[in-house]
Amino acid sequence: MKFDTPATTNPIDQLKIVGKPTNRIDGPLKTTGTAPYAYERHDVATNQAYGFVVGSAIAKGRIASMNLDVAKAAPGVIAIVTADNAGKLTKGDFNTAKLLGGPEIDHYHQAVALVVAESFEQARAAASLVRIEYTRGKGAYDLSAALGTAIKPKASFGTEADTSVGNFAAAFAEAPVQIDARYTTPDHSHAMMEPHASIAAWEGDKLTLWTSNQMIAWSVGDMAKTLSIPKENVRIDSPYIGGGFGGKLFNRADALLAALGAKAAGRPVKVALSRPLMINNTTHRPATIQRIRLGATADGKLTAIGHESWSGDLPGGGPETAVAQTRLLYAGENRMTAMRLAVLDLPEGNAMRAPGEAPGLMALEIAVDELAEKLNMDPIAFRVLNDTQVDPEKPSRPFSQRQLNKCLQTGADKFGWAKRNPKPGLTRDGRWLVGMGVAAAFRNNMNGPSAARVRLDKSGIVTVETDMTDIGTGTYTIIAQTAAEMMGLPLDKIVVKLGDSAFPVSAGSGGQWGANSSTAGVYAACVKLREAVAQKLGFNAADAVFAGGKVKAGRRSAALADAAKDGELVAEDNMEYGDLAEKYQQSTFGAHFAEVAVDAATGEIRVRRMLAVCAAGRILNPKAARSQVIGAMTMGAGSALMEELAVDKRFGFFVNHDLAGYEVPVHADIPHQEVIFLDEADPTTSPMKAKGVGELGICGVAAAIANAAYNATGIRIRNYPITLDKLLDKLPDIA
Ligand code: MOS
Repeated sequence: MKFDTPATTNPIDQLKIVGKPTNRIDGPLKTTGTAPYAYERHDVATNQAYGFVVGSAIAKGRIASMNLDVAKAAPGVIAIVTADNAGKLTKGDFNTAKLLGGPEIDHYHQAVALVVAESFEQARAAASLVRIEYTRGKGAYDLSAALGTAIKPKASFGTEADTSVGNFAAAFAEAPVQIDARYTTPDHSHAMMEPHASIAAWEGDKLTLWTSNQMIAWSVGDMAKTLSIPKENVRIDSPYIGGGFGGKLFNRADALLAALGAKAAGRPVKVALSRPLMINNTTHRPATIQRIRLGATADGKLTAIGHESWSGDLPGGGPETAVAQTRLLYAGENRMTAMRLAVLDLPEGNAMRAPGEAPGLMALEIAVDELAEKLNMDPIAFRVLNDTQVDPEKPSRPFSQRQLNKCLQTGADKFGWAKRNPKPGLTRDGRWLVGMGVAAAFRNNMNGPSAARVRLDKSGIVTVETDMTDIGTGTYTIIAQTAAEMMGLPLDKIVVKLGDSAFPVSAGSGGQWGANSSTAGVYAACVKLREAVAQKLGFNAADAVFAGGKVKAGRRSAALADAAKDGELVAEDNMEYGDLAEKYQQSTFGAHFAEVAVDAATGEIRVRRMLAVCAAGRILNPKAARSQVIGAMTMGAGSALMEELAVDKRFGFFVNHDLAGYEVPVHADIPHQEVIFLDEADPTTSPMKAKGVGELGICGVAAAIANAAYNATGIRIRNYPITLDKLLDKLPDIA
C-alpha cells in the first residue's frame, strides 16, 4: 500500500482497541522471567559452547605479538578466534568488520580474540591466559584539544552539516539583547539492562543468530556482507530485547564473534558482552561542545539564531547532530547552524535515544532560558512568542501539526508555574533552595517502509508476522491492538510474532519511527486480509464492517472464522510512503517541567517533581506510551545530574565502565512524574495518524532540570552533568 495522500476516516478511527491503555500482552512473560532473551535460549540449538571476548588493552596502535599456547591448553578450550585465523571480513554496511580488531587497534576494548570453551567459566579463565604484546600508537582522546582538527562532515541521513538563512552575523551584531554562550555535554552510555548477547549456529553455509537487535533486516544484510555469504544464508531472530536505546541498532561484537566462534568450534556458540566490556567495546553517545548565539529585539522577538556543535568520532564516523532541533524549533529570520567533526580514537560514537536533539536541546533550552531572563520575560511567554507554524528554514513547508504552545501552556497550568519566583535563589524550604524550570521538547518524526503478514485460521485466530522488534517499548501490544481493531476481534484472538528475519521486513526499532511505521505495515496487511475475507464470504470489501468476530453488510452477517474454514487465509503487504514527509514537516513536540531542591550547604540536587506534556500524533496505547515517556524523563534526569563517561585522556578509554561508576537514576532519584498527551491525530504520517514518542520524552528534560537548578540557586551551570562540585563554591552563604 502506498501512503501518499493524507489519511481519511478508516477502520482504525473506531478506537475500540487502538488508543486504549491496554496492558502489555507480553507482560506475564516478562514479569515471570519466562520471556526468552538471547542468552537464555538454551533450547534453540543443542551442544552450545561458550565464547568469552578478549578486549584490547590499548586504545590505538598494533598487536606486536599474541601467544595463545597457554590459553589453548587450558581446561575445556575448544577454539580461539583472532584476526589471524578468522578469515577475511569484508566491510559491510556498517563497521561490523572492525568488531574484531588486530593487528591494527582502533579503540580500547575492541575485541581481539574470542575464546570458546565448554563452560562460561572455562572460557573466561582461558581468556585471561591469552598473552598479547602491544605497540602503543598516538591517539586523540580529548575533544576540546582536537577542535583544531575538526572538519565539516558530509551530510549524514540527509542532514547537512551547515545551514544558513538571511544574515546571521549582521542580525546578531545589531540585536539589542544577546546571549553568546558555550555548553558541553559528555559522552553517554546506553546502559540498557540486557547486555549484548548472541547464540550462533551454522548448518553448512547457513548461519542462524539468536540475538538482541533492534534492526533485523539491516543486521542480516550487514552480517552477510561482512562474512561474504548471501543474505539468504543469514537468519536473525530477536523476539525479546531488554532495552537498546540505539546501542543495538547494529550487529555488535557478540554477534560477529559468535558466528566466527561457531564456525571455528564446529558447534553452536553463545557470547554475551560482560558489563565492564560493553562500555568501551560498543557504541556511545558522543560528547559535544556547543556554542549558541541568540539575538532578540527588546520586546522578545528572536532575530538571530546561531548554533554550532563540535563532536568527535573514529575515522570515517559521523557527527552528533546536535543542531538538528535548532533548524526547526523557533521563528527568526537570520539563522545559521554548523556541525564540525574531529577524529577521536575513543570507542565508536553513534546513535543513542534521540541522537542529535537530546544533547542539542540540553544546550539550546538553557540558552533560551538565559535569553528570556535577560529580556525580563517569562521563559514560557518567550517561547510562545517565537513559535512558528512553518519550517523556519523553508517557510513554504508547514508543520503537519505543531502544538508546542499548547504543550507549554497546558504544562504551566498543571504544574503550577505561576507559583515560580522568576528571581532565582529566593525560594527556600528549610535547608533547601527550591526552583522550577521548563524546556521545550522537540524530536523529528520519521516513517519507514514496513511490511507484515497476517494469517486467519479456522478458529478465528489472526496471527501477525513481521521482523519488527519490541525493545521494551510495547510493540507486541500495539501491533495486536492494530490487528484486533482492523479485523474486528478482541485482543485475545490475536497472536503476534516478531523479530525473525524469516518474516516480512519491517521498519525496525530506531529513531522513534517504530510504533507508527510498524503498525501502518500491519494496517496494510490487514486491509488485504479484509479483502480476502470479504471475497471468500461474498461481501463487497468496501461495505463490509468487521466487528465482534463477524463480518456484516446490510442485513447479512457471517462469522470471520468461516472465511478460513477451507484453509488458512494469508495476506501480506508493505506500507510505503510518498512525499508527504517532504510536503509537511512532521515533528513531535512537548514541554518538560521540573521542580528541584538544592541543598544550600552541600549543593546536592534532588528532583522533586517532573511533568511532560506531549503532542505526538495519535497515541496508540497511552499506558505503553506513558511508560516510554517516564522512562525517557528518567534518562533525561540522568543526563542532567549524573551520567558521564569519564575519559582517560592519556590512555584513551572510558574509565567508569560499569554500573557502579556510570551512574544512572534509581527510584529514589525520581519521586514524582506525570505525563499528559494532547489529543492529536496526524493524517499526514500514516493511516494510523500516529508519530513517535519514545525519544520525544527525553528531549529537553535535562535543560528543564538545569533551568530549575538555576532558578533555585542563581548559579548557571553550562557543563553537564550538574554535579554538586560545580555548585559548591558558588552557593550563597547561609545565614
Ligand atoms: Mo534510536 S537512538 O535510533 O534506537
